[in-house]
Amino acid sequence: MKKKFDLKITVLGSGYWGTIIINTLYKLGFRNINVYDINNKNLSILKKKFPKITIKKNFNKILIDKSLEYIFVAIPPSQNYFIVKKLILNKKKIFLEKPGFINKSEITKIKKISNKNTRLMFGYVYYYNDYILKIRELIKKNYLGDIQYVSLRRQNLGPIRNDVDVDFDLTSHDISIVLKLFDKIPRLTSFKKYYILNKKIADISNIHLKLKNISIDINNSWLNPTKERLIKIIGKKRMLIYDEMNLAAPLKVYNQYAKYPKLDYFNKNFLNSKAYIYKGKSKIVKVSSNPPLQNEILHFLNSKKFNTDINFGLKILSLLERV
Ligand SMILES: NC(=O)c1ccc[n+]([C@@H]2O[C@H](COP(=O)([O-])OP(=O)(O)OC[C@H]3O[C@@H](n4cnc5c(N)ncnc54)[C@H](O)[C@@H]3O)[C@@H](O)[C@H]2O)c1
Repeated sequence: MKKKFDLKITVLGSGYWGTIIINTLYKLGFRNINVYDINNKNLSILKKKFPKITIKKNFNKILIDKSLEYIFVAIPPSQNYFIVKKLILNKKKIFLEKPGFINKSEITKIKKISNKNTRLMFGYVYYYNDYILKIRELIKKNYLGDIQYVSLRRQNLGPIRNDVDVDFDLTSHDISIVLKLFDKIPRLTSFKKYYILNKKIADISNIHLKLKNISIDINNSWLNPTKERLIKIIGKKRMLIYDEMNLAAPLKVYNQYAKYPKLDYFNKNFLNSKAYIYKGKSKIVKVSSNPPLQNEILHFLNSKKFNTDINFGLKILSLLERV
């Protein structure tokens, strides 16, 4: 990578997430930032916030300008297909915000036009989250015992998307977390979605999945009065809660479990047999963490192969397309 302050970076999209990406790039020390958006109002708000950005008015000029190699795409997913296709054909290095596309067909076509030199990374920020990495470590070390159940809840009032369901928008994050924790895509067992504000776009989604013996529930909504970002993992030895909204102590492990007595005892004493509950202490797990978006951006700028590459994105969209 060139000296980071010199690197020319272009961000497509100056909305909510584009602004966060630009802020993070500045925090990392990048100074040569170009921005393109079709909405002049958003651009002028951004220019007030970051007076040193360069506004680009013409997308085709970005495409043919060879000095603009690194492109971050943070526009609505329904706009991505034609833009990403052109970026690939012009050999750009592309950071594409999740979910990337609005269906499996688009991502499959993009995969077909890609080749070994294509550099396309999907922006699945939880994959680069140090807390998720720590939870993965605890699972791999068997600290929680065999995992029996995982619950993921992502709730808030908005942002409400008009081009994708709550699944493509939010559940895509949770599937990326499951992939990071267990290295495998789970199997869809059932789902229930609610279309409340718009008959065509689900606002609330409940998805049930299975990964070997692990049952997984994902319950997401953008129609909720409070913000929740909650992961619970129930192991045979311990239980874990990762609550992103609890800033003081987001990750806690509970030394507690429940189990029935052994099967022959259970059979003999069926009516009297009760599940045994063990309640030990809980402890806060300290994690030295960098902001996940910083980790993610540095991975993009420093790597030739991406953890969240097109195959990663395709696995997630293939599952979500069935919901
Ligand atoms: N990783 C995360 O945690 C996270 C969080 C929020 C959003 N996102 C993703 O970021 C992307 C953008 O979401 P957002 O919340 O910033 O949306 P937003 O609506 O706030 O902003 C989108 C911006 O894109 C611009 N735009 C639309 N079509 C365009 C086009 N054809 N060319 C150039 N600009 C165009 C709009 O004018 C707007 O300024 C989505 O893919 C979303 O899923 C990711």
